[in-house]
Amino acid sequence: MATLVTGGAGFIGSHIVVALHDAGRDVVVLDDFSNASRRVVDALRTLTGSHLPVVEGDAGDPDVLDAVFGGNRIDSVVHFAARKSVAESVSDPLGYYRSNLGSVIALAAAAIDRGVGRLVFSSSATVYGSTSALPVAEDSPTVPDSPYGQTKLMGERILADAAASSDMRAVMLRYFNPVGAHPSGVIGEDPSGEPANLVPRIMQVVAGRRDRLGVFGADYSTVDGTAVRDYVHVMDLAEGHVAALDTDIAPSSSRTYNLGTGSGTTVLQVLAAAEEALGTRIPYKVAERRPGDIEASWADCTRARDELGWQARRGLTQMLADHWNFVRQHLNGYES
Ligand code: WQD
Repeated sequence: MATLVTGGAGFIGSHIVVALHDAGRDVVVLDDFSNASRRVVDALRTLTGSHLPVVEGDAGDPDVLDAVFGGNRIDSVVHFAARKSVAESVSDPLGYYRSNLGSVIALAAAAIDRGVGRLVFSSSATVYGSTSALPVAEDSPTVPDSPYGQTKLMGERILADAAASSDMRAVMLRYFNPVGAHPSGVIGEDPSGEPANLVPRIMQVVAGRRDRLGVFGADYSTVDGTAVRDYVHVMDLAEGHVAALDTDIAPSSSRTYNLGTGSGTTVLQVLAAAEEALGTRIPYKVAERRPGDIEASWADCTRARDELGWQARRGLTQMLADHWNFVRQHLNGYES
């Protein structure tokens, strides 16, 4: 039996593919390569030393799903395939609802129809919005402040209801800020177009492709005035997915888990850690706050620790060193 990983050529998906293989699971990848390079497939086959079946197609297309489930014996699914830009979701909300919710509905229907026992859903800490209470726990208020965040929260609801109406189990994993790469540097984060996230932009400065980092706001009520996030190593996230597939939950039920480190780090602290990890100065300039940014967010991961036996093990220095180790081998991304 195999685990289907939709979006398995993406940044987080590709790392889960390797972790599942290393855990002894057979994997089938489905990706439309709209936001991932086909070269990731070669990298994954190299890393896993296996042929790794890969199907190119849209996870929201019932005909594609028929072919995938018909051609492979699949007992579990990890669903990553989604559009994930907060800014883009504000300018194209209907496209985000159609794409992200369409794929959740089609995939859940196909999975239930085929008797799949478990579906793990790639959700996000953005479902919490600008919550007040920190650290954020799974039962904290969920008030997404973007259509992207709404598609993640609605996706969780859809899957919980689908599980309750069938024998399937649904596990929702809310990631905080994923950073880092597989220690080999063979796979990593290769944003399509201009990256928006902090660490990819820091890496552009280190690679000489950006003069300096713009720090979006230094007037927050934090230890150094810059915003706080919970950065978590993508390899820790990957191990969390293996645990989510193995954990014992009853059929027809669903469960949600935060995957973070449980500690917050400011932008300037990330910058200082990158300078130390990479042994280089990283020039920056304080700029205006970025619209929509929240001041602080970090996770309460007690539930994942107690129920999944999972905790993040890798620190910020390792995240940044591993992230750079991929970038320095792919200065123009996978296509280089
Ligand atoms: C982190 C901090 C910025 C760039 C986003 C998505 C979220 C999730 C993770 C999908 C913030 C600051 C950034 C820069 C800066 N993705 N920053 N200069 O916004 O916490 O979360 O990625 O699920 O949905 O919203 O991550 O890396 O963009 O920003 O100062 O050039 O770094 O203001 O405080 P964010 P980020």
